[in-house]
Amino acid sequence: MKLLVTGGAGFIGSHFVRYWLKKNPSDRVITLDKLTYAGNLDNLKEVLSSPHHRFVRGDIGHAPTVEKVLAGVDAVINFAAETHVDRSLLDANPFLQTNVQGTYTLINAARTAGVRRFVHVSTDEVYGSVPRGKSLETERLNPTSPYAASKAASDLVVLTQWLTHRYPVMITRCTNNYGPHQHPEKFLPLFITNALEGAPLPLYGRGLNVRNWIHVEDHCEALGRVLRRGRAGEIYNIAGDGEYKNIDVARRILKLMGRPSTLMKFVQDRPGHDLRYAPDTRKIQKELGWRPRVSFERGLVEMVEWYRAHSAWWRAIKAKKNGFQTYYKKQYATRIK
Ligand code: NAD
Ligand code: DAU
Repeated sequence: MKLLVTGGAGFIGSHFVRYWLKKNPSDRVITLDKLTYAGNLDNLKEVLSSPHHRFVRGDIGHAPTVEKVLAGVDAVINFAAETHVDRSLLDANPFLQTNVQGTYTLINAARTAGVRRFVHVSTDEVYGSVPRGKSLETERLNPTSPYAASKAASDLVVLTQWLTHRYPVMITRCTNNYGPHQHPEKFLPLFITNALEGAPLPLYGRGLNVRNWIHVEDHCEALGRVLRRGRAGEIYNIAGDGEYKNIDVARRILKLMGRPSTLMKFVQDRPGHDLRYAPDTRKIQKELGWRPRVSFERGLVEMVEWYRAHSAWWRAIKAKKNGFQTYYKKQYATRIK
């Protein structure tokens, strides 16, 4: 099979490229990635020289590029997106551009080119905050942030390709991923790397928001099953094994790293901060026999070890003036007293 992975130089996409080539060594994978601030070729260094892998720098919203890379492709999995909620609060334009318009350009070209399957990687954030209970795939969409709204819009755009053209699309909605190679703007890598640097850990509000954490490799395994055996026109929720309050996760990180709890700083809350997400995963368990394997306890220990051992990787990202530093100052300068 020839597979196109978009956004494959990012966190989850790069894990997926490696996962797929390991499981299907005779397949060919093309990674299409714009290399925004979040894209990093270093994430793909294990496969860059493989004869089974080709990297193309390009935008999913640029039709001529997309049409060219789609030649001979059997299936597409779309990871390409603007992904950070806090950035979407500063400027939603790139989110609408890539996540909505870009996704349409990509899926329209894939359908026209006769690509047989299209998996769109979405998020549990499309359901909005769920204080109690769980969200089924049929739940009403109720996004809160511009990021979540752009993903919800992209889901609808993708679904219309099934509803109007019977184009075989599948959508996945997963919870918070964690693991190696995650950009240090996100909660776990930010807190781990700040703790390594002896810098404050900025907890939004009172740290009582709840997230379900899934190891990135468990997510990739679920996506692999959807790509192979998912039913056309269907949505699949994906989640990890447990829910944790942010404050408990921060405490756990500091304990694991032998750092004092005084590093934790309560800062101004994220506007519209969703309290909790909780997708119901019975459908993917029943239909595709998937369940998560990595416990948060074990995965977090391994993640801390990875960031300890790969400081060159994250220090290079954190040192970027126009990438991380400007953004970080905007986010936290006025928040941390
Ligand atoms: P990421 O920010 O680490 O990577 C995104 C990648 O997309 C980057 O390599 C970037 O260069 C690329 N990209 C951005 N705009 C592009 C464009 N116009 N054309 C081509 N490439 C472009 O993101 P991630 O955390 O790996 O998330 C991947 C996907 O999974 C996203 O669609 C996200 O919504 C979804 N998702 C993420 C999580 C999570 O917890 N991280 C959970 C559920 C779903
Ligand atoms: O649920 C899936 C989503 O998970 C994905 O769709 C998004 O792409 C991904 O970024 C993630 O969104 P969150 O907003 O949940 O992740 P983030 O890492 O930004 O924040 C996790 C929690 O930690 C959230 O409650 C906000 C809080 N937080 C975050 C940061 C960056 C803090 O308290 N302090 C921080 O500095």
